[in-house]
Amino acid sequence: MIRSIVRGIGSSLPRRIMKNADFEGVVETSDEWIVQRTGIRQRHIAADEETTATLGEAAARAALDDAGLTPADIDLIVLATSTPNNTFPATAVEIQNRLGMHHGFAFDMQAVCSGFVYAVTTADLYIRGGLAKRVLVIGSETFSRILDWNDRSTCVLFGDGAGALVLEAAEGEGTIADRGVLAASLRSDGAHKDKLYVDGGPSTTGTVGHLRMEGREVFKHAVGMITDVIEATFGEAGITADDLDWFVPHQANKRIIDASARKLGIAEHKVVITVDQHGNTSAASVPLALSTAVADGRIKKGDLVLLEAMGGGFTWGAVLLRW
Ligand code: ACO
Repeated sequence: MIRSIVRGIGSSLPRRIMKNADFEGVVETSDEWIVQRTGIRQRHIAADEETTATLGEAAARAALDDAGLTPADIDLIVLATSTPNNTFPATAVEIQNRLGMHHGFAFDMQAVCSGFVYAVTTADLYIRGGLAKRVLVIGSETFSRILDWNDRSTCVLFGDGAGALVLEAAEGEGTIADRGVLAASLRSDGAHKDKLYVDGGPSTTGTVGHLRMEGREVFKHAVGMITDVIEATFGEAGITADDLDWFVPHQANKRIIDASARKLGIAEHKVVITVDQHGNTSAASVPLALSTAVADGRIKKGDLVLLEAMGGGFTWGAVLLRW
């Protein structure tokens, strides 16, 4: 039975760090407010020459190095992003070119903060369907470009960055002991569109637009949606929270993460938190958090890892994998 196993991981962050205190004087806010409401202490902000494509390329190269592979070994690139370099072509194709790849195929996925969970699920299906053997799954974002820097209720929340995985076809027994992607559940509901959206686009305003959010409304729905989709994933895999080694959630807000983990009965020491360092990097947040926990030796080969995300749309989903 074909499985998609993780062969390598990498990440990339813009050089510039913006601390909470750097907002004081820009908008009416404080380090204390931001830390207390979100857990965020700093975020990375892209310079003009740092784009979704350059950050994605750097993360992809790091994941390939980690895997001991070159771009010649990859046959598909799936890029999760809501901040592409251009409306078209897909930024995945630009990354493909930057990697010197002129074979295989590449496309973008747009599911906002759930993008990476959607992209891993999609890549897994391409591998199991026999259409690809090795896939670069990238989450890369430059949300700083779509923020309204005068809106204190949103501009303090987001950051830029990228993370990438190399997924590879391998034989498995078809049991929970296999390495690789074991189960996934995806959801969306467009009835919630106006709670978190960008107020521009090529087919409406002809502008790029800015991120708009009813933060309290998003918060209200987040924990229920996240825990529902995780319980569905546990059910599909036949496991409970106790079986998990690591919980790697989307990093939007520490209060949402803590409340979700508590409701699911996931012990605090199993939860990977990077929102304090990166802010909300949308589709890049899960691979950045994974990358951090692999680099510092927490996540090891054979560990059972749960990924989860929720974002604009709403979209939400979870992926269970054995590292
Ligand atoms: N600094 C100081 N005060 C602020 C700031 C700020 N940066 N932002 C808002 N406030 C004020 C508000 O104006 C309000 O003042 P008022 O009472 O005088 O009107 C007060 O703080 C409380 O505002 P709320 O919005 O009710 O604050 P809340 O406790 O809900 O926290 C937050 C706001 C952090 C945005 C919270 O609602 C949240 O985390 N929501 C979820 C957001 C999220 O996770 N989004 C990402 C989803 S993923 C994606 O797809 C991008």
